[in-house]
Amino acid sequence: MLFGKTECGWVAQAPAKVNLFLRVIARRPDGYHELETVMAKVSLWDSLHFTPLAEDRVVLNVSLAYPRSLGGMELGAVEDNLVFRATQLLREETGCRRGVSITLTKRIPAAAGLGGGSSDAATTLRALNALWELGLTTGQLCVLAARLGSDVPFFVADAAWALCTGRGEELEPLPVRGCLSLVIARPQNGLSTAAVYRNCRPEPDRQSVTMLQEVLHQGPIHRAAYSLLNSLQAPAEMLSIDVRELKDRFERLPLIRHQLTGSGSAYFGICRDARQARRIARQLRHEGVPWVVAVSTRA
Ligand code: C5P
Repeated sequence: MLFGKTECGWVAQAPAKVNLFLRVIARRPDGYHELETVMAKVSLWDSLHFTPLAEDRVVLNVSLAYPRSLGGMELGAVEDNLVFRATQLLREETGCRRGVSITLTKRIPAAAGLGGGSSDAATTLRALNALWELGLTTGQLCVLAARLGSDVPFFVADAAWALCTGRGEELEPLPVRGCLSLVIARPQNGLSTAAVYRNCRPEPDRQSVTMLQEVLHQGPIHRAAYSLLNSLQAPAEMLSIDVRELKDRFERLPLIRHQLTGSGSAYFGICRDARQARRIARQLRHEGVPWVVAVSTRA
């Protein structure tokens, strides 16, 4: 999380993520799935402005900085927004009664597998912990984060890369040298995470994450492209013609490798360098793909 002071409060940036590896190992009795996933933060951010309020209330305004025409981007009730829920959870757990006005500017599309909502929630926990001087440790914030969503603890931690296990909430930071240049595209329609998991088949015998971990440890980082995996790709393709079409489009591009991120519907390709990523992004926009960015992973 990048955090800075402005004239009327504080501003923080909440990064998106991609999953270079996501293996569903088993269905759990609690309805979740046991995972082994490698997540990397990327250079695409939502922005959050926090302004202290004298009175005891929480105000949240959300604005979209991406095309409203994308399906699945409708703003729900403020009370359902993860930023609002994170703020209320922090107030309930600490007894803090200070008020805050939050403005969230969304650049990370929803229903995309890019972790936007989770990152916004984690950034809110960290920012308000600092702003309200609550003194919670990162470990304590991660416990609260896991109550908001399986991906949220990853965004509370400082690590740019992590191996996440359990239902995704247990994380081990991965020291990774270098950056990957990526192109990410989101088709017209989003996908529901719960629906994709409901249709997935656990793959206990597929390749484990060890090979990717070794590659990331030893470098060069581009070799990571050859150890990609996502158990959610098959159910996402089954549920969405958009994903199938995007995959076909990516097949025809000169990418090192490509796959779905998280439960989709966004798709990413690993490029030779940042210039190639920008060039491919331009080409995809020209072909009419509704949302495309060229980004890099963070060191
Ligand atoms: O944890 P989160 O609220 O983000 O999960 C959304 C939904 O995705 C869950 O309700 C569950 O259906 C599914 N899920 C799962 N196994 C996981 C993570 C999420 O089945 N490890």
